[in-house]
Amino acid sequence: MSAHSLRKMLTAVDRWYRRQGRELPWRVGPKQRDEGTRPDPYLVWLSEVMLQQTTIPHATPYFDAFRKRWPTVQTLAAATWEDVSAAWAGLGYYSRARNLHACAKAVAGQGAFPQDAAALRLLPGIGPYTSAAIASIAFDERIAPVDGNIERVVSRLHAIGSDGTEAGWRAAKQVIATHAQDMADALPKDGRAGDLAQALMDLGATVCTPRNPNCSICPVWDFCEARQQGEQERYPVKAAKKATPTRHGSAFVLVRDGEVLLVRRPASGLLGGMMMPPTSAWTEEKASDPLEGAPGRRIAWVQVGEVRHVFTHFALKLDVWRADVDATARVEGEWLSHEDALAALPTVGRKAVALALGGEKPRRLN
Ligand code: ADE
Repeated sequence: MSAHSLRKMLTAVDRWYRRQGRELPWRVGPKQRDEGTRPDPYLVWLSEVMLQQTTIPHATPYFDAFRKRWPTVQTLAAATWEDVSAAWAGLGYYSRARNLHACAKAVAGQGAFPQDAAALRLLPGIGPYTSAAIASIAFDERIAPVDGNIERVVSRLHAIGSDGTEAGWRAAKQVIATHAQDMADALPKDGRAGDLAQALMDLGATVCTPRNPNCSICPVWDFCEARQQGEQERYPVKAAKKATPTRHGSAFVLVRDGEVLLVRRPASGLLGGMMMPPTSAWTEEKASDPLEGAPGRRIAWVQVGEVRHVFTHFALKLDVWRADVDATARVEGEWLSHEDALAALPTVGRKAVALALGGEKPRRLN
């Protein structure tokens, strides 16, 4: 694409963003930018870390709660890990929450967020995408973050796909990233790289969707090679997905006088450092002893059903067992009220405990 076309395309994207860009709680929109408001790097960083993990509707209440409770990076840095991990519960991978807390402490130690992508990348939990997103959105560095939405938009604009192999898709992604960076480079020096990045994210999310892209309202449709070929829906041609393996295990929900027994998982590994009901190991084959890993002795476990949860690399099927004990039962762990337990648990644990409790009133044994 010629430099002239590229500039015309950027103008079209900017005009569209001014009219159709989404209002999001962490976003400083183009009109507010015109009036001189600057994005708060802390809020940009917080939103990006949450959005790596989940969708905007799911992340939004968490973002609002974090912002209210910890309005600055200094306040988040000063929070306890127990408070941060409990507030993160339900957002997924706890290594992210650990990095979030470590990053807040590092930034508070330095006094403020560094203002360019290279320095941001040195912080815990900040990789190539997040550093580019924060640097562009918060500081207008002309660097292109490439998330799934931007990848699709740019792939279609230039009709870049792969042959469906892993290696082919890796190569295509590099070409896509180069084209995305060409767009950022074509901005004037004092241009709004953050507006461009967020415009492309919004375009991918609302117009240039994976299926049925709405080309008739697209601001860059006359620049789009995939559309000119009538092949917009075919792009991006990613590597074929591998089947997700399944693992099996049991979860043991022990109930005592309105409370549930939870244990803290080891610091490293999946759900590291998080509270969960005791579980067996999660294995590819179902264990021959379904009560492997059950706490206590001579406890009458009753199977109440199964929950499923999909992690990035595998799907988990957990047989859920429940038992009701009295105060004489000797088990290791922490007893939490139903409400506190549900609030502290990651999603998979909440599914298991909610199933075991089944909405019923706690049974009194003594
Ligand atoms: N996805 C990730 N970051 C985003 C942002 N800043 N705006 C819209 N969608 C996003």
